[in-house]
Amino acid sequence: MRDEQFRAIFAEGFFEGEVRFMELMSNHTSLRIGGAAEVFAMPRDLDSLKNIHLNLKKSNIPYIALGSGTNILIRDGGIEGAVVLLRSLKKIEVLREEDQFIFVHADAGALLAKLVRFSQEHGYSGLEGLAGIPGTVGGAICGNSGAFGHEIKDVLVSLEMMDSEGIVSRRRAEDIAFGYRKSGIGPEEFILGTEIRLKKDHAEAVSKRIGEFLRTKRESQPIWEPSAGCVFKNPPGASAGKLLDEAGCKGAKIGEVEVSEVHANFFVNRGNANASDFIKLMELVSLRVEKRFGILLEPEIKILGKEIAD
Ligand code: EPU
Repeated sequence: MRDEQFRAIFAEGFFEGEVRFMELMSNHTSLRIGGAAEVFAMPRDLDSLKNIHLNLKKSNIPYIALGSGTNILIRDGGIEGAVVLLRSLKKIEVLREEDQFIFVHADAGALLAKLVRFSQEHGYSGLEGLAGIPGTVGGAICGNSGAFGHEIKDVLVSLEMMDSEGIVSRRRAEDIAFGYRKSGIGPEEFILGTEIRLKKDHAEAVSKRIGEFLRTKRESQPIWEPSAGCVFKNPPGASAGKLLDEAGCKGAKIGEVEVSEVHANFFVNRGNANASDFIKLMELVSLRVEKRFGILLEPEIKILGKEIAD
């Protein structure tokens, strides 16, 4: 039944791009964890995205948009339905200049690191604090990524979005409910691109600031190891990493998932880790923090997919 539906949805003429069936999500997440997605589609253009978006919805097949899987944990039973990647939308270009400001367009599928490098090379300021954050521009907006007191929402002017009906519109950033590591953008909406506002500066000055942020990150986070970034949100007025560290969680290990010795809010995959061990470790360490400090940690990473059936 599903097979027939998939064949119709991804038929030639409706869909241009790449489609794979039962694709292991561990190949598409920074944690290298995750079972298979029934369908994994990378539409080549907006028309194909719109067609599959509408047809999946019409057929009642669930789907999610994925950036580069850097802030998510996909369970071992994989994803029912479709995972849609906007990897082919990756243009970055200057739109216009106004006084000391420069307005830049970035497609959702462009890597955030590429946008940071673009601003560095041209001497545009505003994205320095986001240097070293992996993932796509769309993913960063969706989770309002940030570091060192900077958040991506600070530079956003507007977003180009496709709603659940496949209608494309531009929304002002100020009309979107951004919060700490959240955007209020629904699971059935696709971010297609964004306009950001940066400030003209000198390439050397921007490079220097980026270098300093990167150095701090390299010294304080295990950015060279497979992880999903910070696992828990910082509770008001405290650092989850510090609480986890003080509760003695560094080095705690279940299966092949380990709390990093570098930063306790990072869990690293030591080889062939699975999601069920990851979740058990989350429960173990949050219980330790709750017992010690009476603080309930809230996950920052998105947990998706289903558990393996017994
Ligand atoms: N600390 C410890 N032990 C640890 C980790 C941290 O004692 O294991 C201490 C540090 O020494 C420091 C304090 O806790 O005194 C704060 O640590 P850090 O500067 O590393 O910041 P953080 O609050 O742990 C936040 C963000 C990071 C972001 C950094 C840098 C969250 C959950 N974390 O971490 O974001 O990169 O600030 O600005 O908001 C992410 O969201 O994925 C992420 C990594």
